[in-house]
Amino acid sequence: MSAPPIRHYLQFSDFDADDYAYLFARAALIKKKFKAYERHQPLVDRTMAMIFEKASTRTRVSFETGMYQLGGSVVHLTTGDSQLGRAEPIEDSAKVISRMVDLVMIRTFEQTKIDAFAAHSRVPVINGLTNEFHPCQILADLFTFIEHRGSIQGKTVAWVGDGNNMANTWLQASEILGFKVHVSTPSGYEVDQSVAGLRSGDSYRVFKDPMEACRGADLVTTDVWTSMGYEAENETRREAFADWCVDEDMMRVARPDALFMHCLPAHRGEEVTAEVIDGPQSVVWDEAENRLHAQKALMEFLLLGRLA
Ligand code: CP
Ligand code: NVA
Repeated sequence: MSAPPIRHYLQFSDFDADDYAYLFARAALIKKKFKAYERHQPLVDRTMAMIFEKASTRTRVSFETGMYQLGGSVVHLTTGDSQLGRAEPIEDSAKVISRMVDLVMIRTFEQTKIDAFAAHSRVPVINGLTNEFHPCQILADLFTFIEHRGSIQGKTVAWVGDGNNMANTWLQASEILGFKVHVSTPSGYEVDQSVAGLRSGDSYRVFKDPMEACRGADLVTTDVWTSMGYEAENETRREAFADWCVDEDMMRVARPDALFMHCLPAHRGEEVTAEVIDGPQSVVWDEAENRLHAQKALMEFLLLGRLA
């Protein structure tokens, strides 16, 4: 029997709606077993390399604990403590690491780096965040929305803030899963449709006023004003983004049952007020926890395919 072809998860559009339906159902099952202290170890003897070129709390903890809970183990590498930081070519690193492990998760800067790694890897590669995309976060966010409100098809998501990796990934997801995104960014920080890799661009609308983007939304979401790697722009961004703070007025014009999400880490008083992030519509802690369950489903899927 020949081995199934390798699938990578480098951006949200690597999977179709059918794959996502499977993953959300599988994540729900895996979460239920976890809550019941029921052992679920389909990945015994499997190893994942986790490569971090940027800081992380949630991504590291969720992938590391997730892999151990599935019966496998992990190797943790950073730029500073591996040859990656001493200019070993990414292609050579991919060839070597992927001969020793079953799965690789990478958090890095340019998408081209993870694409190059995947092109030379013998095993599936997962994007744990790049400058352009954060697919694992949106996987968990969508699973969280579904848990609270059911299908996201036909719903409206308001994106308030930077046209960054999170915004790009929400836009890709909207095209695949059939929902709308209302995007409001300060001028100069718009989403770049070619970077976001959209198929048609028909699933989103741009609003100058963040309040208008939130009007009637089923979900309001935002992210830090300055993403990792852009720290030199901190001061300029602080001025440009001052009006892009999700507050109670914005939540008031959204639907009465609208949820608030933030991938975290958050800066209260910048992109969101404490009243909103710590308020009754916020599901940020569920979102964070669901990184674990959704990524366990993802790792299992990449290594074993669809299970009954
Ligand atoms: N949301 C997220 O990816 O968090 P970390 O940067 O802590 O991994
Ligand atoms: N946009 C943020 C997300 C952090 C999880 C960043 O890239 O730093």
